[in-house]
Amino acid sequence: MAAMAEENTEKLTRSDFRILFVDDEKEILSIVEQYLSGHGYQVTVSDNGAKALVLAREKVFDIIFTDLKMPKVGGLELLRAVKETSPETEVIILTGYGTVDSAVEALKLGSYDYLQKPIEFERLKILIDRIIEKQTLQKENILIKKRLRDRYQYDGLVGASEKIREIYTIIDRISHTSPTVFIQGESGTGKELAANVIHQNSDRKDMPFIAVNCGAIVGNLLESELFGHLKGSFTGAIRDNVGLFKAADGGTIFLDEIAEIEAALQVKLLRALQERKIRPVGAAHEKTVDVRVIAATNQDTDVLLRKNIMREDLYYRLNVINIRMPALREMRADIPLLVRHFLNRFNTRSQKKVQGISPEALDCLDRYHWPGNVRQLENVIERAFALGVDKIIQAEDLPLEIREITQQKVGTAKIRTLRDNEIALIKSALVKTNGNRAKAAELLGVNTSTIYRKIEKYQIE
Ligand SMILES: Nc1ncnc2c1ncn2[C@@H]1O[C@H](COP(=O)(O)OP(=O)(O)OP(=O)(O)O)[C@@H](O)[C@H]1O
Ligand SMILES: [Mg+2]
Repeated sequence: MAAMAEENTEKLTRSDFRILFVDDEKEILSIVEQYLSGHGYQVTVSDNGAKALVLAREKVFDIIFTDLKMPKVGGLELLRAVKETSPETEVIILTGYGTVDSAVEALKLGSYDYLQKPIEFERLKILIDRIIEKQTLQKENILIKKRLRDRYQYDGLVGASEKIREIYTIIDRISHTSPTVFIQGESGTGKELAANVIHQNSDRKDMPFIAVNCGAIVGNLLESELFGHLKGSFTGAIRDNVGLFKAADGGTIFLDEIAEIEAALQVKLLRALQERKIRPVGAAHEKTVDVRVIAATNQDTDVLLRKNIMREDLYYRLNVINIRMPALREMRADIPLLVRHFLNRFNTRSQKKVQGISPEALDCLDRYHWPGNVRQLENVIERAFALGVDKIIQAEDLPLEIREITQQKVGTAKIRTLRDNEIALIKSALVKTNGNRAKAAELLGVNTSTIYRKIEKYQIE
C-alpha cells in the first residue's frame, strides 16, 4: 500500500508543468489564459519580452510560447536567453503571417516548433500535450536519479540543509550548458569549491579549471595574466605569455574576488564575455576563446554597485546564474555532517582512526558564531588532529575561543535539576555520617522518615 501511495504522489499531471505565454497583445493573453487554465494547465502570461526574461530567470518554465515581434526583447532573443539557462525548457515561437524565415531561424536556435497566428486552440493543446508527454518521461527519470543520489553531498560539497540542496539543484540544472555563474558568500563558505563542482559536473570537465585570485595580482599585471602578452610589450615581458583565458580554453576560469578588478580591466573583461574574444597586451589582433566564466566575491554586491566599484553591465553579464553560499551559522544543522566529512579526510591523511566527537564538543561547535565559516570549522578539526586527539574529539581539543563562549552560555543552560541536587546532598550527608541515616537527616534538617523515603525513591546506595 505504502509503495502504491508513494507511486501515486509522483504521477505528474498537467498542472505540474509550468507554461509561460508571452505576447504583447493583451487580448490574446486573457483568452489564452482562460482557455488553458480552464483545461487544467498551469499558465503564467506576460505582455512583454523583457519582463518574461526576468520571469524565466526567476523560475523554470517547462514550456514557453512567445510572440516573435515584440518591442525591446523579441521572441528570438527570449528563446536564446532561455536556452542558455534552462535548455530543457521547450520554446514555441508564435509567428504572424509571412514570417516563415524567422520561424526557421527559431528552429535553428532550438525552438521546439512554431505556431502560426491566429492561434487555433485545438492545435495549441495538442502541441502542449505532446511536450508534456515527452517531459514527463524526462522528469520522472530525474526524480528517480535525485532520490538515488546521496543528497548529503555533491562531489565534496557537503550539506543537507535547504540552502545547500538548492545549490545542488542548480548545479544539476546547468550541467549541460555553460552559463556564467556569479557566486556570493562570506569568506570560507565554499565558493571556490562550488565553482569546482560546477566545472566537474559540466561538459567541460575534461578541460582545464583555472582559478585566479584577482585580488592577489596588481593592476596591469592582472591584465597580462588573464589575456596574455607579447614578448617586449612591457618591461619584464621577456617572452610571450598566452594568458589564463587561453590556457583555460574549452574549460572554466574562476575569477575570485572579482570586485578587485580595476575599472579599465572590467571593460575588457566584459568584452571578453560578450564577444568571446581577448586581446593579449601588445597584440594587434584579438583571439577567440571558449571559456566558461565563474566569478565570485565575498562582498555585498549592492554596495559594490552603489559605490561603482563594480560596473553594472559587467555584473549583469556575470550574474546569469546566481549562487549564494550560506554562512555556516545559517546551516548549523549540517555541522555534524561537516565534522564527519573532515574527520574522514584527516583520518585518511594522517592514518588515524578518530571516531567522532563528544556531545559537549559538538555543543560548543553548535553555539559558536563561525566568522570564518566552513574553512574555520575545517581548521578546528585539523588542529585537533595536530594536537594529537585520541579516539574522540573532546571540548578540550577545541580552541579556547570556541570553548569559552560556550562555557559562559552553558553556565546558565546547564543548571542541575532539583533531583540531582537532592541526591548529591543526601549522598554527601551519608558519607559524612558514615551511612547513619538519622544523623544525616539531622544534618540536612529533615525528618528521619523523609530521608528514608528519599533514599528509597532515588535508590541511593
Ligand atoms: N559545504 C562544504 N563542504 C565541504 N567543504 C567545504 C564546504 N564549504 C567550504 N568547504 C571547505 O572550506 C574551505 C574553504 O572553502 P573555499 O576556499 O571554497 O571558500 P571561499 O568561499 O572561496 O573562501 P574565500 O572567500 O576566503 O576565498 C575549503 O577547504 C573547502 O573545501
Ligand atoms: Mg575563495
